[in-house]
Amino acid sequence: MKALVKAKEEAGLWLMDVPEPELGPGEVLIKVLRTGICGTDLHIRTYDAWARQAVRTPRVLGHEFVGEVVEVAPGVQDVAAGDLVSGEGHLVCGKCRNCLAGRRHLCRSTIGLGIGRDGAFAEYLTLPASNVWVHRVPVDLDVAAIFDPFGNAVHTALSFPVVGEDVLVTGAGPIGIMAAAVARHAGARHVMITDVSPYRLGLAERMGVSLALDVRTATIEEGKRRLGLREGFDVGLEMSGRPEALRDMIANMTHGGRIAMLGLPAEEFPIDFARVVTSMITLKGIYGREMFETWYSMSVLLEGGLNLRPVITGRYSYRDFDAAFDEAAGGRCGKIILDWTA
Ligand SMILES: NC(=O)c1ccc[n+]([C@@H]2O[C@H](COP(=O)([O-])OP(=O)(O)OC[C@H]3O[C@@H](n4cnc5c(N)ncnc54)[C@H](O)[C@@H]3O)[C@@H](O)[C@H]2O)c1
Ligand SMILES: [Zn+2]
Ligand SMILES: [Zn+2]
Repeated sequence: MKALVKAKEEAGLWLMDVPEPELGPGEVLIKVLRTGICGTDLHIRTYDAWARQAVRTPRVLGHEFVGEVVEVAPGVQDVAAGDLVSGEGHLVCGKCRNCLAGRRHLCRSTIGLGIGRDGAFAEYLTLPASNVWVHRVPVDLDVAAIFDPFGNAVHTALSFPVVGEDVLVTGAGPIGIMAAAVARHAGARHVMITDVSPYRLGLAERMGVSLALDVRTATIEEGKRRLGLREGFDVGLEMSGRPEALRDMIANMTHGGRIAMLGLPAEEFPIDFARVVTSMITLKGIYGREMFETWYSMSVLLEGGLNLRPVITGRYSYRDFDAAFDEAAGGRCGKIILDWTA
């Protein structure tokens, strides 16, 4: 079968013929239909310092996908050939304290699909049945392909109650934009989003935010005034991984404000902890998705009318992966999809 492989310890990706994966105990075999390109995949293609320590070659990349089940191992129930599925890309150990307590998203030895195990950028993929999410209601294939990052957005946006609250999202990448849309859909009063890319701010506007602010030319303080906020934001969703974004967020929260952080900073940085303490601000780190509460929320949010279509701005055949990756890396885009059937 064809697969996109990190085949050499240097920059690049290679479209290669590799053996079809074999079905292990408790696993399902999936024919991949569409996949999403994630920032992680871009890091692995460039082969930066993080990728060099995280990935052993050869490795089939990819963790955002939708596909059709073609075979299940003996004894697997609840998933059957013909099911349309996406997958939880964090494979948990099942043995640590949190796994045993049913808090699988807090597993201490998670293996990442397409990082520590061969992934979804291929014609076929195997996955433990316990990692499979069956789409039981009709769903757009491109949207189903991005359930993994949509789950990051939902997990973060629903970390704290948002009904009637004023929400600040820093970073209008695909995940920040989806989080803003979820917060709005879930009943926030104002949702303000910031970025330094006019293209992405435009995309966020089309998804229905109250205000999309370019922090190169306006301060969050100004944005707050434009929205008529007297105190500060009640809930902050940090989606950029940038030190200055978190600092500005902390400075503009109301007392008792709550911040959920998904953005992954490249390195350590200082923040105003005196402000965190005296304003009694809560900071919560978010990693991955809750299994499978977040997945349930995703499906019902879509069923309830949440529209993610605008965030998908490009679809390429897997054969044109280089052009697709270049567009994703360029940043003048939302989510880019690879079609494994074209
Ligand atoms: N914790 C997790 O489980 C998890 C999972 C997936 C992604 N992530 C991280 O979440 C973040 C969002 O993911 P994404 O795919 O949308 O990433 P992305 O890189 O596409 O989006 C980040 C956005 O932040 C913007 N930005 C840069 N400086 C800014 C500033 N000062 N203020 C506001 N915005 C600024 C960028 O222009 C970009 O549009 C990334 O940091 C990613 O590494 C974390
Ligand atoms: Zn991803
Ligand atoms: Zn575990």
